[in-house]
Amino acid sequence: MSKKPIIVFEGIEGSGKTYHINNVVRFLKKKKIKFIKIREPGGDKNSEKIRNLILNSKSKLHPFTDLLLYLAARNENIENNIKKNYKKKVILFDRFIDSSIAYQHYGMGLNLKIIKSINNFLLGKIKINYTFLHIVSIKNMKSRLKIRKKLNKYDKFNTSFYSKVQKGFIEVSKKKSRYLIIDSNKDIETNKKLILNKIQELILKKK
Ligand code: TMP
Repeated sequence: MSKKPIIVFEGIEGSGKTYHINNVVRFLKKKKIKFIKIREPGGDKNSEKIRNLILNSKSKLHPFTDLLLYLAARNENIENNIKKNYKKKVILFDRFIDSSIAYQHYGMGLNLKIIKSINNFLLGKIKINYTFLHIVSIKNMKSRLKIRKKLNKYDKFNTSFYSKVQKGFIEVSKKKSRYLIIDSNKDIETNKKLILNKIQELILKKK
């Protein structure tokens, strides 16, 4: 495995993925390891514009239009950020292709084949090395969302939607060795250690 892997943090709202990715960022900075961090949708100038278009709470786009916009933002990231840094720097993603499968297919019921085939087309030869999948009980998710100041369009769906999305994430991760499930209902310090141990293994491991 590459010592400059692509590592993805996935999970529904309030699952703790952004907290943990930021903790990994602090670790990499301390160790002076070169990395880039990308949030999806978003990342560069164009992708952030697309993010605003999809997530702004006034936007009322058709779900398939949302999908196409998520994929368009992803293409900008791959073309402008990923290709030039692939295998040169550690690449951390706050959400990536599994989010499209979990939200747009398992949550919204859009066609899985189309989502998978466009994702594969966009990725080309780029491979994801590892994914941390953060899970959370719906009760904890709700109480974490309550304390958020700014809610986007996707933060306001009903709880059965998030349950479907989370089940979708788990389905995608099943029987695959490059996934680690992080149970965010458990102690945060234990999870931090679990993630950092794995990160060290992925980055410092010999080829
Ligand atoms: P977040 O960056 O605050 O997690 O919000 C991004 C939202 O976008 C989140 O609700 C999940 C959603 N999303 C999709 O529905 N499909 C996708 O492909 C991606 C990347 C995100």
